[in-house]
Parts: sequence; structure tokens; C-alpha cells
Amino acid sequence: MASLSSRDQPRSVSEGELKAANDAPHYDLIIRNGRLLNLSPAGPGEQSCDTRPALADIAIGDRRILAIGPNLSGNARRTIDAQGHLVSPPFVESHIHLDSALTAGEPRWNQSGTLFEGIEIWGDRKQSLTSADVKARALAALKLQASQGVLHVRSHVDVSEPKLVALKALLELREEVRPWMDLQLVAFPQDGLYGAPRNVELLEEALKLGTDVVGGIPHYEFTREDGVRSVHRLFELAEQYDCPLDFHCDEIDDPQSRFLEVVAACALRRGMGQRTTASHTTAFASYDNGYATKLMGLLRLAQLNFVANPLINITLQGRGDCYPKRRGITRVKELWHAGLNVSLGHDCIQDPWYGLGNGNPLDIVQMAIHCCHMTGQREIAACYAMVTHNGAQTLGISPAEYGLAVGKPANLVVLAGQTLRDLSCQRGLATAVISRGHCLAQTPLSITQWDDPPESITYPH
Ligand code: FE2
Repeated sequence: MASLSSRDQPRSVSEGELKAANDAPHYDLIIRNGRLLNLSPAGPGEQSCDTRPALADIAIGDRRILAIGPNLSGNARRTIDAQGHLVSPPFVESHIHLDSALTAGEPRWNQSGTLFEGIEIWGDRKQSLTSADVKARALAALKLQASQGVLHVRSHVDVSEPKLVALKALLELREEVRPWMDLQLVAFPQDGLYGAPRNVELLEEALKLGTDVVGGIPHYEFTREDGVRSVHRLFELAEQYDCPLDFHCDEIDDPQSRFLEVVAACALRRGMGQRTTASHTTAFASYDNGYATKLMGLLRLAQLNFVANPLINITLQGRGDCYPKRRGITRVKELWHAGLNVSLGHDCIQDPWYGLGNGNPLDIVQMAIHCCHMTGQREIAACYAMVTHNGAQTLGISPAEYGLAVGKPANLVVLAGQTLRDLSCQRGLATAVISRGHCLAQTPLSITQWDDPPESITYPH
């Protein structure tokens, strides 16, 4: 047996060392060796996707970040080694439909791939909704998202269905997941506010039941006049119930669909710009530049939030085009350059509109980088801000309650990679997700093991 070296020999602890150990701070959790990622919100910043932040530790107690710095002293009940990877504030999912999530193929597949066939299929599927069905699928979707670092979600919920089954189920689920997930619900009249006689009444009932946000879909109303009327009515309801608004706005290739100007003008006149979100706005990509330039002036005045959904927009839009075929994604780069708050959403997870996806925000970012021509160093960094800080702004989360700083809630995610370019190239895995100071999920990195080559093959070194 090998003898112990002098370094391994037990030794007595001095009184000074004992006092220092007793005085050392005790934390619930320490994340060591992380590289803190704090992107600035809206507008072109100076951050580059190639910046490699310095190593730091994060100490957590009482659900808050208590200390940040290199080589923090102190002990913790649990330590997680970030192994030099990025530590980010949690991802924010600005636009999802949890009521329809994970229903792809039920009762049939969307063969045309269009928005309108999706709405037809959902019209059939929602006839068989039950509370248990909605809650089970929505919880599965939320867990998928959380395991990938999403801890704030805004979900639209169809309130055109007369019994409000999905809404009531998701209101219950919102409370059940509150200990680990921040979930906002939008009362969304999928079939139009004036598409059926009871839809206004149903939307108001949804607000009385405690829905967080007023939704709308003016471009889907029967007439332009109905669309404009719906926008005004929805602003009235938002004021009455003191709620923010989030419109499905101009989600169509029609360059004559111009409800964004109506939403912006209403928001400006009512002083509600920062509480109003225009989602999709895909027709903005089809407007001629003369009108788009004029509109951008109004948008700057109104200071709306925007949500683009690149995965869905690139697949649903442009279906009626021959060639050249439009991309159908709103003017993300131009809105960002104008200093407006742009965030990105997944929109659908395996539902009648999009049979793919698993809720991963990095997939959204990847699609935005490509389809919106955001490949510059600052542009890639901006796309990450769009699923973190910008999303938090869209959801109205107080800046004091989001981000990586002492005193803020201990919500964060460790992402495999040392720079944002690493995340893009390698689809950085969320190796640890911390919610309210507790480790919610960990996913080990997979490492490729190379077999010994057969004698006839030499692998390159
Ligand atoms: Fe949507």
C-alpha cells in the first residue's frame, strides 16, 4: 500500500481557520466558473457575438442572487460547476399557443401547410377539448421549454370556444406552475371578435376570470371595418380591465392588410404603446417601401413591442407565391435599427399550424439569424437579446426582476458555449436551469466517443 504523502496527512485546524470557516458566508447554491451573459435590451448595441465574458461565480440564497464575482468565498448546500460555459438570464417565450400544443395530426394533418387550413383543423380539434387534455399537453410543453432554459412564457389561449375549456384549464395550470414558471395568458379570439355573436362576451368573461392580456386578430375579421372596430373595442377592454394588449396583427401576405397602423395609432392616442404588442406583422414585409417608411415613423412615436415568430412565419407565409417567393417575416432588422423592442417567439409546438419543434429558443434564434439576414456580429447578439431581455420587456417584467445582478431573482440558465457564436454553431445545450434559486433541470452534455478505426482506415488527426 502506498504511504500517505505529507500533503495527504490529516492535520489539526487552527482556531483562526475555524473562525474563518464559521464566518464564511453560507449560501443555498453557488454556480462556479460561469461566464455571465447580460445583453442590453432593444436597439443596436455594441455587444458582439464573439465576446467571451470573464469567469465569475454566482452565489444564491433566499431565491435571490446574493453575490457575483470571481472566486467567491463561502460554502453552499449545493455547488454547480458551469465549466467555463455561459450563464444567461432565462429565456423568455414571448408568443406561444399552449392550448393547441402537441396536437399535430389530430384529427388530421395540415396538408397544405397554410394558416387557414390550420385554423380549420383547430376548429375541429377544439370540439373535443377537455380540461385534463389541455393541462397534460400544456404541462408537457412547459417542461420541454423549461428544460431548455425558458422560465417566462406568454401563451395565447383561444377564447372563441363557448365553454372556455382551454382557458379555465390554463388558468389552473398557471397557478400550479407558478413556483417554477412565470406564465401569462392572453385572451385570444381565434375566430375573430366579431366572427360569432358571443365572441365579445366570451373574451370579456375570460378577462373576468383572470386572464392577463387582451388579444385580437383584426386581419381575420370578416371586413376591414370589423377589424378596425375590433381594435378599438379591445383597447377599451384593456383599459377597463387594466391589461396589456397583444394582437395577432397582419399575419398574412396581403400587402393591403394594414391593421398595424390602427393598433399603433390607438396605442399612441391612449398612451399605451409600451403595454401593446404587435405579434407577427408579416404583411409589413410585403408593404412597399414608401408606405413602410411612413409607417415606421408612427411606430417610433407609439413605441409598441413587436414579436416575430420566424419558425412559423417562414413556413406559413409565402405559400401562395410562385417565384420569387416571399419570406413573410416582419422587418426585424429595420425595427431593431429603429430602436424598437423586438422579441422572438416559437408560436407553435407540434400543432395544426406547425408539426415540428420542441420549444427550444435557440432554434428560434437560429431561424431569425438566417431569415432576417442578422448574421453580423452585433446582429447575432441582438437575436439573443430578443429571446431574453427584449422578451422580458414585451412581457412587462420589471427590469429589477430580470437579469443577472445582485438582488435580482435567482433565475438563470447555464448554456454550453463560451460565446454567442458558440451557441449558434453548436446549439448550446442548457446544461442547468435554475428557477427561484433551485436547480430545476440539468441535462448532461453528450460527448462523441470515437471507436478504434478498422485496420484498413486511418482517421485524420
Ligand atoms: Fe400566434
